[in-house]
Amino acid sequence: MSAIEVIPSARRLIKSLRDMGYDFAQAVADVVDNSVEAGATLVAIDIEFDGDDSWVRIADNGKGMKPDALREAMRFGAERAYEADDLGKFGLGLKTASLSQCECLSVASRWNRDRADIAGYSWDLAHIEKSNKWEIIPIDKDGLNASIREPLKERPGTVVLWKRLDRLLGYKHPYGEMSRKRLMQMCREVEIHLAMVFHRFIAGEAGRRKFKIMVNGNAIAPWDPFCRTEPKTMRLQPVVLKIEHEGVNGEVTLEPFILPPQHAFSSKVAADAASGPANWNQQQGFYIYRAERMIQSGGWSNLRSPDEHTKLARIAIHFSPALDDAFKINVAKMRVQLPGAIREAVREAVAPVVKLAREVYDRKPPSATPPSLPPASPPRSAAGTIPPPSSAPTGGYGTEPPRNGTVDGHVSTSVVATAPALTIDEWSTKLLEAASDTERPTVERVLQRLRSNMNG
Ligand SMILES: Nc1ncnc2c1ncn2[C@@H]1O[C@H](COP(=O)(O)OP(=O)(O)OP(=O)(O)O)[C@@H](O)[C@H]1O
Ligand SMILES: [Mg+2]
Repeated sequence: MSAIEVIPSARRLIKSLRDMGYDFAQAVADVVDNSVEAGATLVAIDIEFDGDDSWVRIADNGKGMKPDALREAMRFGAERAYEADDLGKFGLGLKTASLSQCECLSVASRWNRDRADIAGYSWDLAHIEKSNKWEIIPIDKDGLNASIREPLKERPGTVVLWKRLDRLLGYKHPYGEMSRKRLMQMCREVEIHLAMVFHRFIAGEAGRRKFKIMVNGNAIAPWDPFCRTEPKTMRLQPVVLKIEHEGVNGEVTLEPFILPPQHAFSSKVAADAASGPANWNQQQGFYIYRAERMIQSGGWSNLRSPDEHTKLARIAIHFSPALDDAFKINVAKMRVQLPGAIREAVREAVAPVVKLAREVYDRKPPSATPPSLPPASPPRSAAGTIPPPSSAPTGGYGTEPPRNGTVDGHVSTSVVATAPALTIDEWSTKLLEAASDTERPTVERVLQRLRSNMNG
């Protein structure tokens, strides 16, 4: 008897695929993965509030796709050969991440440097609902409106456009204040998330060209969880663990850091920035990187629980996509599990780090130092009696050029240093109080940049 093909119901399955668990920032990050992969050096994310017509656009200057490659890219389960350190894996992210946030995903691409031809296709849930077929809709010339065409005017690249943001703006009054505020809040969350998960790419540490991410015109500064430019951060000896999983041999590298206690940071602003999106206690633990892209940001992967006394311990764990199965990476690239085979070795490696973190935490702060002012010439050695890290290799780490407190020409640290009467937090409150509703998102962005600059 010959086999019978049973095609899934497009209408039903495409709806279920919307619920893989992405939040907005994670969805954007999954699309940005593709831009990294396409060799882009710039990705510009623009979020436009216009009630029902609000949109999100993610545009890169990568190599672009010819029409047939773009059609394949639009397929659920797109096929291609992956290289050893590719960020892609499932052939799904572009579609599942996008449709988790919107009802209409358009992708347009220019592949030729000399010719401005653009190919474009859309997945439109309203069309699928009607047709119940896995059909994409070609975007004709008229459909290539300014928001799609503009980023591709000068160069090849790819534009991903999300329209009908039902998951983001499911409000009764789409033009209302609630909707607008929500979208502005999303901008901020996206900035924070991308600054974290792509920090090694933005800082040019990922073995690729430097990668710039703009959100609504502002360049994002990398957020380094290990505060490696802080003079009192301690870098401990890395540990390399060998692992064999279902015939695949690989290595997992642990790089432990002990952050300075808050009072020992070079400034209060730097200490505040170091606390991270989820704050000190939740940001302790493992930062798991797959091919340099952060998948997990903090937490002890069930080896221990977060503890105020160990919050200064942060440990980078690196693995390569060859070990994806061992780490059980999920489609949304948001979750991994420490492989059973190395759990005990990791526990052992972590024990002295946690012990040291606790000792540093328990040490009394020197009483005379005002915490919000940077010392005139910061000491270069590790704090107190703790020996400096023994023979930690310096490759990549610790070799970053010193930053001068400015990123992209914005506010410098001296603004705060010469105005000691107010801390950055006090300034922030005052500025936000004085700003009108329309100015507030801009002020928030500037403040975030200022904090990043102070940190960098
Ligand atoms: N911005 C882009 N520039 C060039 N090619 C792209 C871009 N976005 C997607 N593609 C192509 O489309 C394919 C499908 O992308 P998609 O994100 O759906 O899956 P993937 O990246 O292969 O795997 P994963 O599901 O793990 O993300 C990619 O493999 C890539 O070939
Ligand atoms: Mg992808």
